[in-house]
Amino acid sequence: MNRTLPKNLSRRGLSTPALLGLVVVVALAAAGATAMLTNIFERKQEAKVTTTRLVEVTQDTTDPAKWGVNWPKQYDSYLLTAQSTRTRFGGHGGSEALPEQKIERDPWLKKMFLGYAFSIDYRDRRGHAFMLKDQEDTERLSKPQSGSCLHCHATVMPLYRELGGGDAIKGMEASAKFSYKDLNKKLHDMGHGHSVSCADCHDAKTMQLIVTRPGFIQGIQRLAASDAETPFAPSIERWRATGKAKPYDPNADATRTEMRSYVCAQCHVEYYCSTKLPLTFPWGKGLKVEQQEAYWNETKFPDGERFYDYKHAETGAPILKAQHPEFELWSQGVHARSGVSCADCHMPYQRDGATKVSDHWVRSPLLNISRACQTCHKQSEDEIKKRVDLIQQRNFDLMQRGGVAIVALIDALKAAKAAGATPEQLNAAQELQRKAQWRLDFIAAENSMGFHAPQEAAKVLGEALDYARQGEMAVMRLGAAAQVAAAPAKKP
Ligand code: HEC
Ligand code: HEC
Ligand code: HEC
Ligand code: HEC
Ligand code: HEC
Repeated sequence: MNRTLPKNLSRRGLSTPALLGLVVVVALAAAGATAMLTNIFERKQEAKVTTTRLVEVTQDTTDPAKWGVNWPKQYDSYLLTAQSTRTRFGGHGGSEALPEQKIERDPWLKKMFLGYAFSIDYRDRRGHAFMLKDQEDTERLSKPQSGSCLHCHATVMPLYRELGGGDAIKGMEASAKFSYKDLNKKLHDMGHGHSVSCADCHDAKTMQLIVTRPGFIQGIQRLAASDAETPFAPSIERWRATGKAKPYDPNADATRTEMRSYVCAQCHVEYYCSTKLPLTFPWGKGLKVEQQEAYWNETKFPDGERFYDYKHAETGAPILKAQHPEFELWSQGVHARSGVSCADCHMPYQRDGATKVSDHWVRSPLLNISRACQTCHKQSEDEIKKRVDLIQQRNFDLMQRGGVAIVALIDALKAAKAAGATPEQLNAAQELQRKAQWRLDFIAAENSMGFHAPQEAAKVLGEALDYARQGEMAVMRLGAAAQVAAAPAKKP
């Protein structure tokens, strides 16, 4: 698709005589009071973002085009998320066709997901412009899905406020009980059928960054209330030191740097999203893979059963499905520790005359190395690309080994089951499948191919391999024990 973008420049440009007049005024004033002028100029720069408006927008204005009248630069780059992008591991195939199926490219993924809708349709992601459409079109909807899905794929806040009688958190909790189809229809009927838009990340009055998503706000409060270390979020450590009188409030307590990642962490995170519980971010023990696992292991469904996402169709193991934990993996890396936010790499500044404009074409930073990386790293573009590629290649290779190992475990369990092993006998290996698969999926579902925290990713994959092979050995020991006991021979 070759889209021509609207030319918005004329809307905000000053005529030449007006500009000349301004120059004269500025020159005169400069002769008088430079210091004061600097001050006024700075204030004007701030005012530019906050008050010069051609149309009024509110938190209920979900149509980005309306905001685009006031902030055409950001809007123009936002529209570019409909463009096709591709890198070796990132981006997607094209904007005309649906992205490639991950489960066909990596058959071990499909095998892991047997018994769950992800084994039907699971593709590469693409730009933000497509998020609502791709959700509406996925064949995963051939299984009943919950209204919670909309949390991260649409401008859902006005709908939440309505469902919750003004209280968005209540609204989100209520949305879990709706079917996806019904809630999606309601969203469109209310006129809010848009992909992520300005009001999701910005306060309409001040244009400052805000987080709006109840799932994130509850999740980060859980994290703050825990005693997990959070070097990537110093404001949480400060909040803990002040005695925790009120719950941690990211919109009041977080720094601007933190907000530049929090806005993304509203969606690019692991979650539970089905009908048995409201949407949940499992952060009550920390963000590491084993901390989230421990949180899920302690979570119970209303009927008292231990938490799981699905039972594996071939082995019966109660599986935890991981989803795009970008925020969590990033939080374990050296960039997070150094205060480098998602927006630094994925929405770098562009210079526009005297002002800086954040690039709202959210995409792979590898398509934009000069602004995304070279502001901090002085190596050549080629060298930076090679370093990233090395990290990603190592991660890819280790992950493929993990894929082989998990298939071996699943096949061993399946054979033992067919040979008549009892549920008690299979239990240990099923638990190991749960642990191994959670870790392998965590890195496979994460979208940076290990880049966001290379050593952490390697650690997680190493554990996945170990648990998968331990599981396989547990099954083999069953067979050996059976032979020793000379039980009547059953089909292997
Ligand atoms: C230091 C720079 C940096 C930071 C900080 C960073 N990323 Fe990334 N991100 C990358 C790189 C490099 C890739 C790999 C891109 C590729 O393979 O094309 C990537 C990949 C991604 C992808 C997949 C991109 C695609 O085109 O498929 C997503 C989604 C993503 N990051 C989200 C995030 C989020 C959310 C955060 C913050 C929690 C974050 N990133 C922080 C550099 C960064
Ligand atoms: C917590 C936020 C969140 C929730 C809830 C959520 N998604 Fe997503 N979804 C994302 C993010 C982020 C991506 C892009 C990264 C990726 O593809 O891994 C994505 C990608 C997708 C894609 C495109 C890639 C693919 O998987 O084929 C589809 C389709 C999709 N989601 C459907 C759903 C459905 C159906 C639900 C409800 C069961 C749902 N999503 C719930 C955040 C969410
Ligand atoms: C409201 C939820 C939401 C928020 C907020 C959000 N994303 Fe996304 N993001 C998604 C979904 C969903 C997709 C996948 C869309 C699809 O495949 O149709 C996606 C896709 C992406 C991609 C892949 C783009 C491509 O061209 O392949 C990147 C990179 C990305 N997001 C980074 C970010 C960053 C960085 C932030 C914060 C500045 C952010 N996202 C905020 C939901 C969100
Ligand atoms: C996924 C979150 C997200 C969405 C959606 C989003 N922005 Fe932003 N926006 C940001 C971030 C991050 C910054 C950088 C803010 C900072 O550093 O203080 C920013 C900055 C801005 C600024 C301040 C100047 C600048 O460019 O740094 C304006 C104005 C702005 N955005 C307008 C918009 C408009 C208009 C839309 C809708 C078309 C929009 N934004 C959608 C995240 C978002
Ligand atoms: C705002 C500054 C900043 C930006 C932007 C930035 N980095 Fe970094 N990067 C750092 C810092 C700080 C470190 C830690 C090492 C150090 O102190 O020198 C680091 C470390 C690294 C490392 C080695 C550590 C590791 O995780 O393997 C790589 C590779 C790297 N960066 C690549 C990138 C790439 C690629 C981009 C752009 C997508 C990028 N960086 C953007 C500041 C930045």
